[in-house]
Amino acid sequence: MTSPVEIACLALDEAPLDAAEGAAVVFVRPDGSLGPAASAADEATGGAVSRLVASKGFRNKPGDAAVLAFPSGLKADRLVVAALGETAADARRAGGAAAGKLASAVATVYGDGAAEIQAEIAFGAALRLYDFDAYKKRDEETADDKPRRLRFATETPEAVAKLSKPHAALAEGVFFTRDLVNEPANVLTTDDFAARLGAMGELGLDVEILGEDELAKLGMRCLLAVGQGSASESKVVVMKWMGGRPGDAPLALIGKGVVFDTGGISIKPAAGMEEMTMDMGGAGVVAGVMRTLALRKAQANVVGVVGLVENMPSDRAQRPGDIVKSMKGDTVEVINTDAEGRLVLADVLWYVQETFKPAAMVDLATLTGAMIIALGHHTAGYFATDDGFAAQFEKACKDAGEAAWRLPLGPEYDKALKSRLADMKNTGGRPAGSITAAQFLKRFVKDGTPWIHIDIAGVALMKEGSDLAPGGATGWGVRALDRLVRDYER
Ligand code: BES
Ligand code: MN
Ligand code: ZN
Repeated sequence: MTSPVEIACLALDEAPLDAAEGAAVVFVRPDGSLGPAASAADEATGGAVSRLVASKGFRNKPGDAAVLAFPSGLKADRLVVAALGETAADARRAGGAAAGKLASAVATVYGDGAAEIQAEIAFGAALRLYDFDAYKKRDEETADDKPRRLRFATETPEAVAKLSKPHAALAEGVFFTRDLVNEPANVLTTDDFAARLGAMGELGLDVEILGEDELAKLGMRCLLAVGQGSASESKVVVMKWMGGRPGDAPLALIGKGVVFDTGGISIKPAAGMEEMTMDMGGAGVVAGVMRTLALRKAQANVVGVVGLVENMPSDRAQRPGDIVKSMKGDTVEVINTDAEGRLVLADVLWYVQETFKPAAMVDLATLTGAMIIALGHHTAGYFATDDGFAAQFEKACKDAGEAAWRLPLGPEYDKALKSRLADMKNTGGRPAGSITAAQFLKRFVKDGTPWIHIDIAGVALMKEGSDLAPGGATGWGVRALDRLVRDYER
C-alpha cells in the first residue's frame, strides 16, 4: 500500500519564502492580483511572477499552474504559480494542479484566501500527491520525485489544520479505494480483499465475512455462479457503521467486487484485459466510504455490502445457456458470462433488503463498457427510482466536485431482458447496454426502496490522471457518497 503525503501547517515566519528549499508554491487571485506570499515571490524574483501572470501562457483559469525554474533571488529550484479561482472547488483544484508540478522531495505551499479556502488547497494537493508505488523501486537518478512531506505555510496555521481534519478522513478513504483498485488481481484476491475489510474492525466498524457455504444457504446462486470457475472463494462482506439514532433504518451502499473479470467462458479479447483488475471498483468505493465514516465518526447508520468474486473460465465455470436461480427466487438465463456484475449485484441487493430493510440503497459498479462510450471518463452515469433521492445525490456530487449524469429507466428497455426459458436473461443486446443492465438490477429492488445505481465503468480509472489524482484509480464517488451520508446524520 501507499504512504500518503504528510502535510504540516506552519506559520509564515517558520517558513520564510527566501529560505524555502525544493519547491515553493504561490497563488494568483482571480482578478490577477497577488496575495502576500505571491507578492513576496514577485519581489524576490525581480517581477517574474507579474510577468508570468501578464503573459499569454498563463490564463488564470481554474487548474492553471506554471513553473518558474531556478528562480533568481530564491533558494527554491522551482516556483510554482497557480490560479486560485473563486470557489472552494477551484481552490481544491488549484492545490492539486500545483502539486502536479512538484518534482522534489520537499515543497512549501504558501496558502492564500480564507482558512476554508486554504484547507481546500491543502486537500487538493494531498489528493494529487497520492502515489501507488508499492511495486516500483525508487530511481534516485530520475527527476520525477514527488514530495512525501508538504509544508503548508499560512498566516492561520491552527485554523487551517483544524479545518483539514475532516479532509484527512476523506483523503484516507479515497486512498484506501485507490489502493484497492490499483492492486493487481494476484495480490487482491477475494480472500485478501475480505481480509483488508476485516481489518477495518479496528476502526470500530462491525465487519462480517460470509463465505461460499453461507452464501449457498442464503440462496445466492447467481453470485456463486459467477465465482464458481475461480480458485478463490466467493465472499460477501458486510461493513456496519451505526453512528446514528438506534433503530433508524440504515442507508445501504452496495458494491460490485469482481477482483478480476476475464469474461469467463465468454472470454474477453486479450488487448486491455489487464484493466479488469479495476472491476472491483464499486466495492472499493464502498470500502473507502465506510473507512471515512469510521474515521470521522459519522453520526449516521450506514451498511456497506460488497460481493467479492473472480470471473474465470475453467472446467467448473458457468457456461452460456446455464440457468441459475437468484436469492429472490427469479431464474436467470446466462446468455453471456461476461455480463457477470449484474448477477453478483442482484443477489447482494436482495440480501441487503431482506436483512437490513434500508431507508435507501445506492449501488456502485463498473458494470458496462457502454457507459464509457456514452460518458467517457469524466462523468459517471446514474439511474434512480426516486426523484427526491436523485436530487439529493446530485447535490452531493456537486458539493464534492464529482460529476454524475442521470440516465433513464423504463419498461420499454426492460423488454430486452425477456428469456425464452427463464424469468429473464442476463443481457439485453447492444442498444442501450448500460440501461438494460440497470433494468436487470431494478428487478431486484423492492417497490418503495429508493434506489440509485451508479455505473462507474468510465470514472473508476483514468489513465492520464487529473488535477486531483495521478494516472490510475481515481476513488471517484468516495467524496460524493460521504457528502450524501451527511444528509442522514442526526
Ligand atoms: N466489467 C465489465 C464492464 C467494463 C468494461 C468495465 C470496460 C470497465 C471497463 C462488465 O462485466 C462487462 O464485461 N460488461 C459487458 C456486458 C455485455 C456482455 C452485455 C460489456 O460491457 O461489454
Ligand atoms: Mn464482464
Ligand atoms: Zn465486470
